[in-house]
Amino acid sequence: MQPNATPKPMLLFFDDERESAYRLAQAACLQHRAIERHRFPDGELKLRLPEALPSRVVILRTLNDPNEKLLELLLVAQTARTLGARHVTLVAPYLAYMRQDIAFHPGEAISQRIVGKFLASLFDAVVTVDPHLHRVSTLQEAIPVPNANAIVLSGAPLLADLIAARRTQPLLVGPDEESAQWVALAASRHGFDYAVCRKVRHGDRAVEVALPKLAVQGRAVVLLDDVASTGHTVAQATRLLLAAGAASVDVAVTHALFAGDALQVMRDAGVQEVWSTDCIAHPSNAVSMATSIAQALDQITHNSNHEPH
Ligand code: R5P
Repeated sequence: MQPNATPKPMLLFFDDERESAYRLAQAACLQHRAIERHRFPDGELKLRLPEALPSRVVILRTLNDPNEKLLELLLVAQTARTLGARHVTLVAPYLAYMRQDIAFHPGEAISQRIVGKFLASLFDAVVTVDPHLHRVSTLQEAIPVPNANAIVLSGAPLLADLIAARRTQPLLVGPDEESAQWVALAASRHGFDYAVCRKVRHGDRAVEVALPKLAVQGRAVVLLDDVASTGHTVAQATRLLLAAGAASVDVAVTHALFAGDALQVMRDAGVQEVWSTDCIAHPSNAVSMATSIAQALDQITHNSNHEPH
């Protein structure tokens, strides 16, 4: 280590994310400790951190099922600071509440802005993967931590590599216009053909999808998106693609939210394989983001070394 270089942080994690924490700790060469969590009979939580914390701490918490986890982050971040941490980074491979980025109807909470400010009040840096940023262009606008400390990674390149290994001359299709950024990124890596559908949402489980004007006859189609939640967007696109003559339809998503019977909904529509990154632990996980997240943490440490003291 260079003289005066910032020491490596300690990774803190919750027991339900033990496996991804181990992968990240190994990739980033970080010491790691579990946060003890007790739920009282009345539902309140007691959390306990290691007493001796270094000055830099990284907290891993992926934010699917986010409501209780946001309260955990409040308790953990503030406790970490009282125990001596001076720089606290959040690694949230899946970032919740990013889709409600405007008031679609008068009176609606703009959740992205509110949750983003809350996280920025707790953390010095944030690392996430394919956040659903639609009407804002940077993560820093959604979570106003210092600019260089809001790091966005993408699962699309790794999913593209996986698709290249599993399918010959696939056609990548994004199920809606918002997926264009990830589909274009994945396609450019291997020179895949790609296109995106148009989608109109009528309700949580009611979507209307229109296929792009493109021949799909006989093609191995892979639907690629940041997230599938109820699975109805993917299911609707799959039915149309198979009806139009696609040879097969597989699904690749960064975030396997898969609420309720989503997997079954997709399978019933004719989806063959479902691949996801390990941002949210799920049996469909096929690629790991640990190495990319480790590089982002190194970048944050490097930035700190060059901040004025
Ligand atoms: C939103 O635009 C996202 O990219 C997904 O397309 C959407 O969240 C999928 O939702 P669901 O699986 O519930 O149809």
